[in-house]
Parts: sequence; structure tokens; C-alpha cells
Amino acid sequence: MSNVFEDLENDIENLSSTSIFKDKEPLDHRYLPDKLVHREDQIRQIAKYWVDVLSDVTPSNVTLYGKTGTGKTAASKFAREQLIEIANKKKVFVKVLHIRCTDFTTEYQVIAEICNKLGRDVPSRGWTKGEVVNAFRDIFKRRNTYGKKLQLIVILDEIDILLDKDGDGILYTLTRTDNVSVLCISNYLDFKNLIKSRVKSSLNDKEIVFPPYGADQLSDILSERAQLSFQDGVLEDDVIPLCSAMAAKEEGDARYALDLLKSAGEIAFDEDCDKVTGEHVRKAKDTIEHNKVIEIISTLPLQQQRVLEAILILTKQDEEISSGKLYDEYKEISKKDAVTYRRIFDFINELELLGIISTNTISRGRGKGRTNIIKLQCDETLLETTLYTI
Ligand SMILES: Nc1ncnc2c1ncn2[C@@H]1O[C@H](COP(=O)(O)OP(=O)(O)OP(=O)(O)O)[C@@H](O)[C@H]1O
Ligand SMILES: [Mg+2]
Repeated sequence: MSNVFEDLENDIENLSSTSIFKDKEPLDHRYLPDKLVHREDQIRQIAKYWVDVLSDVTPSNVTLYGKTGTGKTAASKFAREQLIEIANKKKVFVKVLHIRCTDFTTEYQVIAEICNKLGRDVPSRGWTKGEVVNAFRDIFKRRNTYGKKLQLIVILDEIDILLDKDGDGILYTLTRTDNVSVLCISNYLDFKNLIKSRVKSSLNDKEIVFPPYGADQLSDILSERAQLSFQDGVLEDDVIPLCSAMAAKEEGDARYALDLLKSAGEIAFDEDCDKVTGEHVRKAKDTIEHNKVIEIISTLPLQQQRVLEAILILTKQDEEISSGKLYDEYKEISKKDAVTYRRIFDFINELELLGIISTNTISRGRGKGRTNIIKLQCDETLLETTLYTI
């Protein structure tokens, strides 16, 4: 038998010479393009604060705000690469670490990760928090061969998650360590409401806002990537404008725009077409929405899934769903471990925020009060198959 891997590799090579894609990597979320159009201002603002480090001065702390897919992670990584390039040239002793707070749940874990990245081994558990913090601070006491102490910039990406789970300890420790500057990245303008005033005052950050992209800006971003990813001439003229318009509606999310373009290409490829068309983009939109709903539903806590199941049953019975009726149905399903009526309201709010249901308060007429009417906002069959196959 010939080698299966070799056969597959040959197949892929043959396909790629005739296929839609030239190179899929630039359509991946993690790909960092060598220019970030429409983010020059924000990058320059980051640089304006970080430039101090080149004169061995610890830069101000910075916070980047913006909705999902507005280029915050990309801009911070871009600024990091540029700073490291010049710092190496000038032999300045600086490191910039990018920490995704989704990967670490506590202050201990974040500090341990930073220490490990800086070459100071710290176990992922077992030490006291004080011991880890001391190990971290010791790093800044050492000098390099030029007699310089390390200047460290820590990018805390998706910090909201850490603040929800572990409070603001991490910010306090980092901002109270000499030679350390932090760049926080948050989706919420009010993220500082989650931190105590003493931490806020030592953070004393400069804020940079990343507004959502408009359709024209998204078109520019996609055109750059399309040139690198698709064979020449395979995209029909309406493909990029359509992806951009759809993503502009989704709050200017560049990640979504790239996903649409990539899936449209994949669908065209699967259908053996030699062009990507607007129709492929529309199909891509359905596929992405479909997958998103499946992911949201299958990762919901059990009791919330039961609430959804109750909504599904009532929807199929063509019932108008009031909270009271929903609670009765939910109790039927959950039996003994049903949560209280009060909790159901929280669940309803959360499901509404996720866009799976909508609610509408109606008045029943004088003296009869107001009722919340709940409606399913996702496809019934999709919900049913997802709920009963997880
Ligand atoms: N101006 C731009 N030029 C080129 N590509 C961009 C630009 N802005 C964003 N992108 C691309 O869009 C995708 C999403 O951007 P990024 O990850 O930086 O968003 P984000 O603001 O960090 O979102 P989130 O809040 O969800 O983490 C990435 O693949 C990124 O490379
Ligand atoms: Mg990000």
C-alpha cells in the first residue's frame, strides 16, 4: 500500500492548483496581516504611550475598548511587533507579553504564566500567592549585561473574564510592581466598574476606543486578505461588498466578515464551482448562524436547556408563552430539581441576550397587570435536534 499521507498531500497539492483558494491561512482569525488598514490612529496612540520604554521609562497603562472584531487584539499584537523590532535594534531591555485571560482563571495562574514566559519557573499550583508574587518581583531586581533592568509590558487580553472570576487582584499586583506596564483589552466601556477604587487609581490608564467598522472599511480589510487567499479572479464582484454589508450589520465585526468570506469560498469549493458568488455568501451566513446556535445551546447549563425545552414544547403547541405558563412546563420537565420562579427570570434574560428568544411585555387591560410574552427566535427544528442530541 502506498503511503496514505503522501497520497493525501498529493491530492491537496493537485487540488490547490485548480481550486478557489491560494492560501487559506490569511483568512484565519489568528493571522496577523502586515498592515492594519483603518487602525493606523489607534496603533499610533498605543505607540505614543509605549515609546517611553525606549528611554527606559515605564509606559503609562493603557486600555483598549471596543466591540468584538474591531481589531483590538490585532492592533496590540501589531504594536508589540513594531516595538520589539526597534527595541532589538536599540538594545533596549523590554519584553511584551500577550496573555489571553480566557486561558487563565486566577491571578496566581496569570502571574505564574508571566514568570514562566520570562524564564522563571513557577509551578502551576502549590505555592502561596505571596510566593508567586515575590518570584515575579524578583525578576525586576536583576540586571542584564548592559546593567539594565527589564521593562515589561503585559497585554491582558479579554480581561473582562478574569475580573468576573477573580476580581481585580491581578491588576493590583501588576500595577504595583516597578517596571511593569499593562495594556488591558475589554469589550465594555464600563469595565472599570468591576474594579475597586484603589486599583483604579494605581491603574490610572489612558483609554483608546476602537469603533465598529463601517461597510467600506470592512471591504478594504477583506480585499487585502482576499488577494492573499483566493486565486485571481475567482471572487465575483458582489462577494466582498455583500460580506462587508452583512458584517457591518453585525456591529462592524471584522472577524465575522472574514468568516463569511472564508465559508463562502469553502462552500463554492465543496460545490465544485470555479467562482465564489453572492449566493455562496448567503449560504455561508446560514451555516455560520446555524453553527453558532448549536454552540450556544449545547454549552448552556442544564437548567437553562430545560427552560429552552419548555419554550420549544409550548411553541410547538402554538401556545402564547407567558412566564407563568413557561414555569409550569419547565417544572414538568425538571421535576424535583427545578429552580425557583425568580431564577427563571434570570434565565429568560440571559437567553434573550444570547438572541435565542425575545420577550415582549403586554398589558392585559385595566387591573389585570402586565405579562411577559416569550417567543423563540431561532429555528425550531435546529433547536429540537440540538437539544435532543447533546
Ligand atoms: N484593520 C484591520 N485590518 C486587517 N485585519 C483586521 C483589522 N481589524 C481586524 N482585523 C482582523 O479581524 C479579526 C478580528 O480582529 P481582532 O481579533 O483583533 O478583534 P478584537 O477586537 O480583538 O475582537 P474581540 O473583542 O472579539 O477579541 C482578526 O483576524 C484580525 O486580523
Ligand atoms: Mg480580541
